[in-house]
Amino acid sequence: MKATFRTWLRDLEEAGELRRISEPVDPRAISALMAESPQAVLVARVAGYNVAHVGGLLKTRRRVALGLGVAERELGRRLLEGLEHPIPPRLVADSPAQEVVHTGDEVDLTMLPIPLLHTRDGGPYLTSGVVVARNPDGSRNAGMYRLMYRSPRETGIDLASHSDLRALAREAFDVGRPLPIAVALGVHLNEMMAAGYPLPRGVDEFGMAGGLHGEPLELVRALTVDLEVPAEAEIILEGEIVPVGWTHDEGPFGDAYWLMGDVKWNPVFRVTAITHRRDPILYTMNMPWENVWLGRPALEAMAWKALRDARIDVRAVKAGWSSVVAAIRKAAGEGKNALLALLALGAVKLAVVTDDDVDIYDQEELEWALAYRVQADRDVLVVGGARGKHLDPSTRAWELPKGALPMTAKLGIDATVPEGIPASKYEHQRYAFRGRRVDPATATTDLPTVVRRIEECVRGGPRFFLEILEALEDVPYRDVLRAWGEVRRRWALRRDREGRYLLPGSPAEP
Ligand SMILES: Cc1cc2nc3c(=O)[nH]c(=O)nc-3n(C[C@H](O)[C@H](O)[C@H](O)COP(=O)(O)O)c2cc1C
Repeated sequence: MKATFRTWLRDLEEAGELRRISEPVDPRAISALMAESPQAVLVARVAGYNVAHVGGLLKTRRRVALGLGVAERELGRRLLEGLEHPIPPRLVADSPAQEVVHTGDEVDLTMLPIPLLHTRDGGPYLTSGVVVARNPDGSRNAGMYRLMYRSPRETGIDLASHSDLRALAREAFDVGRPLPIAVALGVHLNEMMAAGYPLPRGVDEFGMAGGLHGEPLELVRALTVDLEVPAEAEIILEGEIVPVGWTHDEGPFGDAYWLMGDVKWNPVFRVTAITHRRDPILYTMNMPWENVWLGRPALEAMAWKALRDARIDVRAVKAGWSSVVAAIRKAAGEGKNALLALLALGAVKLAVVTDDDVDIYDQEELEWALAYRVQADRDVLVVGGARGKHLDPSTRAWELPKGALPMTAKLGIDATVPEGIPASKYEHQRYAFRGRRVDPATATTDLPTVVRRIEECVRGGPRFFLEILEALEDVPYRDVLRAWGEVRRRWALRRDREGRYLLPGSPAEP
């Protein structure tokens, strides 16, 4: 059975991750409901609307893993598989997404229960839209873009950051043309993941979606624009980005950076058709978490790819806030090579590289490596003047002229074992006698015998104190310690580099 938005909801519900509310809910209550609910929430009846609403589908890493059908640590690699084994989409004639069609005067975005999400938002936002456009060479582009409700047939569209759609819009505007687009709302996670992944221009994101599905994604022709859209979507908006340039106010929007956001200057999307299923469900994301959990696996996949392309033996990757940590098995100098590869990624502001003995998913282990494998004057790279992100307040993007892009500094930390330091210096302590049974020792032995046995033990080779205790496990602990005192009194014991005890040539004078 093909995976669709509906099967995704069903799977979440079966896993206890989605709850249904059947009483009517006012759209004003939706945002708080999503924020407070430990599960995703499906509101079957939105008061005053014939469209249901769902949110919170991707609020946790676990839910993303459920959606993609893999373990939580495998998200990045799963995406990479889809990316590296794309399956071209397939065109179908009929689509549930076109069961109901509104064109011309019938187009009215207020039919959708688009909620106001945050206290300072510039208006209600559509957050789950996969925006489809066509490149001049005929190939397809898909990306995820937020849309701010402006009026029944217009939304703002955030094209303030570097993206293929922004470039397409600019090219169209340069020749005074609108850019036709279609927005698919309520698609499977695979489509959203692929659309959110910054594939090179000309590479079809829906091929990657097919790779993730393991079969071609079904597309249907849009009705009023020359584009194809996911046939199983809940709702499709068709229309064009109007060639007004970056002139219209858009935002603030409580964004992916866990911030209120700013007013931005952006183009406008004019809607020429709305098509949908007979019983459509509008999906809105609970920000920032759902955006975060869409973005991090993508960043992890990019990091895997960048490191492999740089011929680094990468073993684990974990993304965070504009940051990525990678565990590698390194050859000399590769800690720095890995950092250079990671910092080249547009989404990365902070990169950390560790050896693969560190569990980068464990905060204690990671901080430990940062604390004790790093000398800041040698292992930290700072690169200024790189491409930045509008959403990051520290770039002071609001001071830029309309439509301009900010720059940022990037930080890389090489937390691999520095070259020239033996690996043994970084051995974690292990607990004495752990994992084995120790019975209380009851033997009664006189002190000289115990002293002699310790001497024999140490004479047999350099010994850790543990090895002496193991050799005399039948002797009560206290007797061993007393005898040890005597051995130390008699001998000027020596230590090797690891701290093992050695007997010198002859006993010390009494
Ligand atoms: C949920 C979500 C919302 C996003 N919203 C925006 C947005 O409003 N503006 C933007 O520039 N990028 C946004 N992005 C990032 C783009 O979708 C991403 O960079 C994508 O690769 C762009 O595709 P394109 O370059 O092929 O057009 C969003 C990503 C996600 C996952």
